[in-house]
Amino acid sequence: MMKARRADFLTSASEPAGFPRPELPEIAFAGRSNVGKSSLINAVVGVPGLARTSRTPGRTRLINWFRVEAAVGGSLALVDLPGYGYAAVPHQLRRAFRPLVESYLVGRDALRAVVLLVDARRGGEDEERELLAYLAEKGIPVQVVLTKSDKLAKAARRPTAAAVKRQLGLARDPLLCSASRAEGLDELWRFMLARIAAPGGRPPGPRVSV
Ligand code: GTP
Ligand code: MG
Repeated sequence: MMKARRADFLTSASEPAGFPRPELPEIAFAGRSNVGKSSLINAVVGVPGLARTSRTPGRTRLINWFRVEAAVGGSLALVDLPGYGYAAVPHQLRRAFRPLVESYLVGRDALRAVVLLVDARRGGEDEERELLAYLAEKGIPVQVVLTKSDKLAKAARRPTAAAVKRQLGLARDPLLCSASRAEGLDELWRFMLARIAAPGGRPPGPRVSV
């Protein structure tokens, strides 16, 4: 299985002024609170506890950067974005998430792709559609990942993936991943490595300085 040769916490930021200098191509992990972003980052690099995980939704309130050396060579940064859509997070905090995530997505030239996580049992909702439309408009490549696939019966996996594909109007099948059972991780690596290797990164567009 593909893993990381090395992975380190780089930095975290609560505002654009704290974003690190973009020295590596970045893959950002986005999705609803508690969907399993931090767990999937840990599973994909093979380092439990690298990104902090919790049963309490809203755990990740900052943007966190991890520097990763892929086992096949090449370095990249994985970016753990704060989760959206959790009602119990105080209103003011929720309002702060969106501008922070948006200022990252809109202004980050190093960003090569977003991995959008969707709970396999929950499916895509308005927030996911909105985020997909936003990313499409910005020309940012996306891979949708259905998380916690271990909670689905084997026979339900493919139909669930097909349903989410329809629901969200995706061109490609979503990947089924389980952080706890280490499923779908090679496919996710293949996507990330292809985005890192792609020439040019993001298409030229309006620059927003942050
Ligand atoms: P926020 O930081 O709050 O936005 O959450 P997150 O998206 O980073 O989720 P996190 O990785 O902290 O996981 C949330 C909960 O889901 C934890 O209790 C995890 O143990 C559980 N979880 C994550 N991935 C999986 C998985 O693949 N299978 C199962 N069964 N549980 C998982
Ligand atoms: Mg998290």
